[in-house]
Amino acid sequence: MKKITIAIDGYSSTGKSTVAKQLADYLGYLYVDSGAMYRAVTFYAMQNDIISKGYFNVEKLIESLPLINLKFVKNDDWNKAHIYLNGNDIEKKIRNLEVSEFVSPIATIHEVRVKLVAQQQQMGFEKGVVMDGRDIGTVVFPKAELKIFMNASAQERAQRRYKELLERGEAINFNDVLKNIEERDHIDTTRQDSPLVKATDAIEIDNSEMNLEDQFHTVLQLAKDRIAGRV
Ligand code: DC
Repeated sequence: MKKITIAIDGYSSTGKSTVAKQLADYLGYLYVDSGAMYRAVTFYAMQNDIISKGYFNVEKLIESLPLINLKFVKNDDWNKAHIYLNGNDIEKKIRNLEVSEFVSPIATIHEVRVKLVAQQQQMGFEKGVVMDGRDIGTVVFPKAELKIFMNASAQERAQRRYKELLERGEAINFNDVLKNIEERDHIDTTRQDSPLVKATDAIEIDNSEMNLEDQFHTVLQLAKDRIAGRV
């Protein structure tokens, strides 16, 4: 059967990764969480005194890029591939609010984007890939057969992220989560290089009022139509 490329972009915490993973599993495609790659670079920067509150050494970050080796590793015991930074599994260390606070400034740096976009394009070279992020349909795979743009209100997204972080045992308060989401929306949409915008040929889905099952079936139908060449 014909394999296609599926790009899923949208704001933070719109559930992009959930639907992307469901779709990849169903179709037997590779799933790539591009946000994990920006988070991994951020984790490296935090560990190597490149970024902290009120401090960001952009030059050092750019110099360090050749030392940052990212890889996704699969294991039958895990529900999704884990991201490895220089040989170490950092999957569990990149989803906290601290990494979320620094990731958007890191993602504005052109050299970071050039490195990660090249690796993402390499991973999707043979098609049969579902990738989620901010610039997948506009920059990474502008020719993707299916582009989805996910949206939901900031309040709803903050509620979802807050619940997720609480379940993971993080001591956080709702207003900090909401503030982080709004700040990231602002930086992601106003940065100079590859800002978050809906590709002209993307289909927008607002899932504020949608359950996971309805959302999955909507997107799956779109994918099936593209694979069959019906649209
Ligand atoms: O999807 P996420 O929330 O894990 O992404 C973390 C940050 O990484 C997000 O705030 C912006 C950045 N990002 C990006 O600039 N481009 C991508 N393709 C994916 C993520």
